[in-house]
Amino acid sequence: MTKAHSQRSPSQRSHGQHSDSSQSKAQRHAPKGPADGEVGIASIGIHLPPLGLDVRELARLRGVDPNKFTLGLGCGEMALCPEGLGTVDLAAEAARRAIERWGGDPSRIGLLAVGSESAVDMSRPLSAFVAEKIGLRGAVRSYEVKHACYGGTLALRQAVEWKRSGASRGRAALVIAADVALYAPQDPGEPTQGAGAVAFVVDDARIAAIDVDSFAWSDPAFDFWRPVGESFPRVDGPLSLDCYKRAAEQCFRQWIGERPARQAMQSAEAWCFHVPFPKMVKKAALHVADSLGWSEDEGKEFFERKVAGTMGWNRRVGNSYTASLWMSVAETLVGKESGTRIGAFSYGSGFGSELFGLTAGPEAAEGAWAEDIEKDFESRSMLTAEQYAEQRGEVMEAADEADAA
Ligand code: CAA
Repeated sequence: MTKAHSQRSPSQRSHGQHSDSSQSKAQRHAPKGPADGEVGIASIGIHLPPLGLDVRELARLRGVDPNKFTLGLGCGEMALCPEGLGTVDLAAEAARRAIERWGGDPSRIGLLAVGSESAVDMSRPLSAFVAEKIGLRGAVRSYEVKHACYGGTLALRQAVEWKRSGASRGRAALVIAADVALYAPQDPGEPTQGAGAVAFVVDDARIAAIDVDSFAWSDPAFDFWRPVGESFPRVDGPLSLDCYKRAAEQCFRQWIGERPARQAMQSAEAWCFHVPFPKMVKKAALHVADSLGWSEDEGKEFFERKVAGTMGWNRRVGNSYTASLWMSVAETLVGKESGTRIGAFSYGSGFGSELFGLTAGPEAAEGAWAEDIEKDFESRSMLTAEQYAEQRGEVMEAADEADAA
């Protein structure tokens, strides 16, 4: 067992240290929440753009069997930006919501980190654009983090480490993961498009504590990249699937360490993944199970019990790149009893990945941030295939051809 495991094994956190025999059985088995003053997520804010598209409409436009997008890729709807609205706007609104919900003094924010792969300038960080919109200036370390879809996780972990190191001198951090994921029209990635932002105030762990231990794996690859000056990403689809699965296997191996694999995997109530499209997550979960020598049925059961339920919001948002994992974590934390353990697997093409655990805090049960996404889902306008085509500046012939087929 690694030193890290011996310090903070999930089973210890969930069940240990209740030795008082006067406690009731229920108390003895109640999961242990974050300690007072533990660093973690104190507030969450989410924002989606005001347009959406059902992937079945896209299938109609492209003349594709809708089952390919819904069953084959596991997608449902995608969030889309109208012209003139972009990553900075999404990030700023998510940040405003997170700060308001936090209720702290914004002058206590000493770090602003924006993870994104939708940079708008090669030099000026996205954080400067966002800071301008939300009026955050002064004694603030402000920067952008780029590592494809992994950038938001890196920003969050850096903020937590900044707090834990003492460098924050008690101040809070604002971390935002925000992206607009668009592919070229008719690209195989088109049904997986999406957009959105998740912002966190990192301060006390009233919503969730984040483990010190984390397990990273990287291996340089050209699986998905966007050369400077090009609007849309280039993708080696099969390689990207393979890299994602390898990354998951390696991170989970490290997480398990010397522990019995089944016990380690059961130690979290749910496992959240980066969700490029839901079927990718299923493939990765089954791959991890297979690499552990589990039967296909056991792998499927693991997926259904621990993973499938974490992607409800993702199915309606699409891939929001850096925000995608954090949409899943935000949904999964809603309603969780303090002390409940969940796991988070982050993947960014190129590739880098990391796996770590979170422990729900006392305000997770209330799940106040769910109102952000519910409000945005309710108020958004769903486009028809024709409106989407028009929005993308395409001729309507494609839709007519699809209809006629
Ligand atoms: N009914 C039901 N299922 C159908 C179907 C039908 N009529 N037609 C096809 N399918 C199934 C296929 O069998 C396949 O399922 P399996 O993989 O389980 O066999 C699935 O639909 C997809 O079909 P294809 O493999 O033919 O799909 P494709 O080649 O058109 O595109 C893709 C798939 C390459 C993933 C594409 O969506 C893409 O390029 N996506 C962007 C890259 C990506 O998301 N990669 C993931 C890892 S990288 C990452 O995580 C970073 C990131 O966020 C981008």
